[in-house]
Amino acid sequence: MSVSPLRRYLAFASPLARLVRTSPDDGAFHPSDTYALRTLGLNVYYGDRKILDNVDLAVPRNTVFAIMGPSGSGKSTLLRVFNRLIELAPNARVEGRVLLFGRDIYDPSVDPMDVRRQVGMVFQTPNPFPHLSIYDNVALGPRLNGLARNGEELDSLVEWALRKAALWDEVKDRLHEPATSLSGGQQQRLCIARAIALKPRVLLMDEPTANLDPESSRRIEQLIVELREDVTVVVVTHSPGQAARISDYVAFLFSGRIVEVGPTREVFTRPRSELTERFITGALG
Ligand SMILES: Nc1ncnc2c1ncn2[C@@H]1O[C@H](COP(=O)(O)OP(=O)(O)OP(=O)(O)O)[C@@H](O)[C@H]1O
Ligand SMILES: [Mg+2]
Repeated sequence: MSVSPLRRYLAFASPLARLVRTSPDDGAFHPSDTYALRTLGLNVYYGDRKILDNVDLAVPRNTVFAIMGPSGSGKSTLLRVFNRLIELAPNARVEGRVLLFGRDIYDPSVDPMDVRRQVGMVFQTPNPFPHLSIYDNVALGPRLNGLARNGEELDSLVEWALRKAALWDEVKDRLHEPATSLSGGQQQRLCIARAIALKPRVLLMDEPTANLDPESSRRIEQLIVELREDVTVVVVTHSPGQAARISDYVAFLFSGRIVEVGPTREVFTRPRSELTERFITGALG
């Protein structure tokens, strides 16, 4: 008999489960790859300042998981922990465990480059390689990583990624024009295509629609919902409306702490915390 994703999720994420859990590694009852990502007692410091405080999260695979919270609450910091970009900041320090499909990505035996291949990222401002063509923006990563054996395979991988990013029809006749000839919304979809061409298992998106017009935002939101068939998406947003529209699960981060986490519908219809309620009704910054 299969256990529903919701029950599996609650088994780890509800406060009650935390009380009855005997050890953080009760994987015997839950296959380690049920969750794309888990954090256990995660603390992050910049210098002496604690930015993330005892964060426990479980992101079920093939879902859209939103992290919402006001500016400065630590959302981008948390995303950067998930692909070890955090360690590019010389003053950052990470404590606790971060499991990617059951494996601790901060274990000394793990190569951060390997983590970043499995955990792709899309940033707030579209950042295609400006000197490369539309085609080469998508093809570069697969080329460097030997994901295609010949030109034909590379062509079909590029087409696959551009179709997944809902951009193919708009660019198929201009693949060799510079990426900078695209509109902002198209450039962001190109960045999504570039990220998924590497076939990551998780895709992190840091406010991917923050700089886009409403129509482009709507297209990207729709795309995010479709992408979860192939990849687990963790998306940061300061907009509760966006989290409600696109996510299956949502965590509310405030001053570096998880105030509330759960299935999006539950959090939005019956928030347990008054702070969450104030945030989702717009009464909080
Ligand atoms: N490299 C750094 N060194 C020191 N402090 C930093 C560094 N990066 C971020 N911070 C601080 O950590 C805190 C959390 O920042 P973070 O960028 O994670 O917030 P955020 O929730 O993504 O905010 P926003 O919605 O504005 O993007 C902030 O107080 C920020 O000033
Ligand atoms: Mg941020």
